[in-house]
Amino acid sequence: MQHFISIADYSSTELKDILGLAVRLKDEWKQDGNQPLLENKVLAMVFQKPSLRTRVSFDMAMRHVGGDALYLSPNEIGLGKRESIADVSRVLSGYVDGIMARVFEHEHILQLAHYASVPVINGLSDYNHPCQAMADMLTIYERFSDWSGLNLTYIGDGNNVAVSLAFACARLGLNFTIAAPMGYDIPVEAWMRAEEMAKDTSVRLRKLQDPYEAVRGAQVIYTDTWISMGQEAEAEKRRQLFPPYQVNAKLLAEADPKAIVLHCLPAHRGEEITNEVADGPQSAIFQQAENRMHAEKAILVTLIK
Ligand code: CP
Ligand code: NVA
Repeated sequence: MQHFISIADYSSTELKDILGLAVRLKDEWKQDGNQPLLENKVLAMVFQKPSLRTRVSFDMAMRHVGGDALYLSPNEIGLGKRESIADVSRVLSGYVDGIMARVFEHEHILQLAHYASVPVINGLSDYNHPCQAMADMLTIYERFSDWSGLNLTYIGDGNNVAVSLAFACARLGLNFTIAAPMGYDIPVEAWMRAEEMAKDTSVRLRKLQDPYEAVRGAQVIYTDTWISMGQEAEAEKRRQLFPPYQVNAKLLAEADPKAIVLHCLPAHRGEEITNEVADGPQSAIFQQAENRMHAEKAILVTLIK
C-alpha cells in the first residue's frame, strides 16, 4: 500500500507514470468519459483548513471513475482534539478506501498515514502541497510537451507550494529558481532534500533575492499568496515586505517571451499578482486549476486498489 505524502517519496519514473496516466484520463474524460476504475470506492476528505479546489477536484475525480467522496469539515471530527489522529485514522480505514487530508502540522498527515490501512493523500500541510505540484507539472507538460531543461522561477514566499514545486522540478528536470525576501526562503531541510534529488537529474537550483534576475530566461513564472493559511497573525508584516515580489507586467516582460504564469490559487489580486497578468495571455491559472482534478484522478487510480 502506498501513500501520497511528498513528491520526494516518488522517483522520476513513478511521477512520470502518474502524469502520463493523468494525460490519458484527461483525454478519455474529454472524449467519452472515464471508465469506472474506482467503482464503489469511497474517499474520505478530512479538512482542517478551507478549500475550493482540493475539495471539489477530489470529489469530482472520484465521481468520474465511479466512486464517491465524503467531506469532513474542520469542526466535524476534531482531528487530534476530539479524538486522537491514530484513532481517526484506524476508524476511517474501516469505512473507506482512501483518505485525503488537509492539515496544519505536517506531522499530522504522517501520523494519519502511519496508522491507516488505506492510502493517505496529502491535500496540503504547512510543509508541502504535492497534489498541487502534480497539477502544475501536468500544465507545464501540456504547454511545452516536456519538462527537461525548462527554467521555472517561483517568486514570493518559500511556502508549502514552493517546497513541492522545488521537489517536482528536481525530479522532472526543470531548473528551479526562487526569489524571496531574506528569511522567507524554502526551509533549509527541504532545500537540502531538493539538492539531493537534483543530483540525479542535473537540475540547477538557485535561491535569489532579486525577482528580476530570477525571471530572466524563465519559461514558467509561479507565485502564491504572501500569507498562507495559519499565518494570519503575520499578515501586516508580510504585506510590508513582499510588494517587490509581485508578479506584474513589468516583471513578466523580463522572462522568456514564451513564458506561462502559474498560481495555485486562491489569488490575492493586487498583492502577489496583478489582474493584468492573472487574466493576461500568458496566464495558465485556470487550466492549472482544472488540472488538479486530472492529476488527482491519476493519483487515486494509482493508489486505491
Ligand atoms: N490550490 C489549492 O489547493 O486551492 P484550495 O485551497 O482552494 O484547495
Ligand atoms: N500557500 C497557500 C496555498 C493555498 C492553496 C496556503 O497554504 O494557504
